[in-house]
Amino acid sequence: MKIRTVGVMGSGLMGAGIAQVSAHAGYPTTVLEVSKELLDRGMKRIEGFLRGGVEKGKITPEDKDRTLSLLKGTTDMKDLSECDLVIEAITEKLQAKRELFARVDGICAGNAIFASNTSSLCITEIMSATSRPSRFLGLHFFNPVPLMKLVEVVRTIVTAEEAESAALEFVRAAGKTPIRTSDRTGFIVNRLLVPYLLDAVRALENGVGSIEDVDAGMRLGCGYPMGPFTLLDYVGLDTTYYIAGIMYDEFKEARFAAPPLLRRMVLAGMLGRKTGKGFYDYSVEPPAPQNHLTA
Ligand code: 3HC
Repeated sequence: MKIRTVGVMGSGLMGAGIAQVSAHAGYPTTVLEVSKELLDRGMKRIEGFLRGGVEKGKITPEDKDRTLSLLKGTTDMKDLSECDLVIEAITEKLQAKRELFARVDGICAGNAIFASNTSSLCITEIMSATSRPSRFLGLHFFNPVPLMKLVEVVRTIVTAEEAESAALEFVRAAGKTPIRTSDRTGFIVNRLLVPYLLDAVRALENGVGSIEDVDAGMRLGCGYPMGPFTLLDYVGLDTTYYIAGIMYDEFKEARFAAPPLLRRMVLAGMLGRKTGKGFYDYSVEPPAPQNHLTA
């Protein structure tokens, strides 16, 4: 089972990043989107990142051009018919993912491998919409995809060993380090990361320290590249809240329960960088911590 061509469904933040690293590794990569506008936006994101890479001296102009030449955008699902590996990176909605996979299942060859980039949904539940249980797994990339070195390779209880091996080989060829995990909500990283982020919010609610001091604590005391509030704003408060909810439903453990402040910030539309305000206010430079949230 050798992967030669790759399809990526969705060209948002994660999909565009996955398509970029796949093409950069030399795989002809077809990106599927629902509209030309979204496709153009995704392709521009990739071009912009590659241009930045050239400016920073991380890649050569030839590298950039070769990567772009291996990328093909489409809004026609039939263009995925030749792909050996199809990675889905659309919105985190179970039904939408199941419907998409059910459709592409009828288009791709029976031995093609399907993978979901879901961070929290049950891989087995997505897989059951297809006719290829043994060739279905999770490939969980991290944001920002081109810079983060890790991919979680998630096997279900019915994933074939050869499908997992082919996926591991693809991840390594894409310049990432795979870690193997099983289909348990949150996998390895979010199982540890989400309670940590929620605990930071609880610490803030309990008056343990200010936003900037908690962030500095973890950055300077533990060497984390970002403190928990900066990371929450980066990932998106709605995304973290959503993942926490799924993990709480699965495990019924208090550590996965979203703290009241997080819920209220999501309800108020304070989602982090994407809305300009979260634990920091991004309308000013440097971003201002919003310590009045717990006042
Ligand atoms: N092309 C190539 N390289 C680039 C680049 C580009 N366009 N832009 C930046 N780089 C390189 C830089 O040159 C630099 O390389 P160096 O280390 O060799 O000098 C490196 O990438 C870092 O870039 P910057 O210096 O511009 O940025 P920072 O040092 O501030 O790092 C960061 C940014 C990588 C995002 C870092 O802050 C970080 O690792 N943050 C944590 C992110 C994280 O935890 N992500 C996971 C989120 S959780 C998740 O995704 C799971 C989901 O399920 C919720």
